Amino acid sequence: MPKLNENYQNVKDSYLFAEIARRVKVYEETHPEKAADIIRLGIGDVTLPLTKSVIEALHEAVDSQAVSETFKGYGPEQGYAFAQEAIADYYARNGVEVKATDIFISDGAKSDTGNITELFAKDNVVLVPDPVYPVYVDTNTMDGKNIIYMNGTKENDFLPMPDENVKADIIYLCSPNNPTGACYNKEQLEAWVAYALKNDAVILYDSAYEAFITDPTLPRSIYAIEGGQRNVRSSSVPFLRQQDSQVHVSLTQLFRKSLCSRHQMAEH
Ligand SMILES: Cc1ncc(COP(=O)(O)O)c(C=O)c1O
Repeated sequence: MPKLNENYQNVKDSYLFAEIARRVKVYEETHPEKAADIIRLGIGDVTLPLTKSVIEALHEAVDSQAVSETFKGYGPEQGYAFAQEAIADYYARNGVEVKATDIFISDGAKSDTGNITELFAKDNVVLVPDPVYPVYVDTNTMDGKNIIYMNGTKENDFLPMPDENVKADIIYLCSPNNPTGACYNKEQLEAWVAYALKNDAVILYDSAYEAFITDPTLPRSIYAIEGGQRNVRSSSVPFLRQQDSQVHVSLTQLFRKSLCSRHQMAEH
């Protein structure tokens, strides 16, 4: 008889954003006169149509599948080279050297933050900022890992820093943070990298909102920090959500292997 993963009992009844949407809907229905005034702090959704160049590229890609001369079957496992190179160029324009071949094009940072947990044994201690994007907590809870929270408060400008008394194996950093918008500066990230190297910990760095950084002194990537490349990190850029994990070669390859086999399974 199959045994269920009991850790799912520890996940909240509903995903945070689904619960927010449910409550907003109830409020809208019970207070229709106030519906227009609601400020939505739930899931961030896009509000404007896609830009012309994106629409054109999408149409072109669809049309190319309609004729045998340009038809493509499954793409390469790591992603199309043109996309990897475009992402590497994007990093380079922001002062970070990443080899195109080290970039893995996945189906998004959300699934990857979940997939990557499978590489780590259950008895790892996971450090997660609070508040933060809820996916890190839910996926590690489903996996039965021990989560320690570090509080983002008004006192620390919503940017928790390493505590030498806390020993962690896996550290999630989200900068700029969802939902606070707080962004680590170079010195702060240097402190995190030093902590991770000292404790042999891995930083999973989610920079989904790096495009909102306008101050050129603020790092857009953990790779902008010396030593940061000795940690694996999860990252996404807005135009092509991607997961890249460099260095820590064995870990990276294992991660790719696990993702590739999942993709292959999904395709067949
Ligand atoms: C911090 C953060 N990381 C990742 C994601 C999701 O990224 P993707 O669309 O690539 O799955 C979101 C989306 O809300 C997010 O807020």
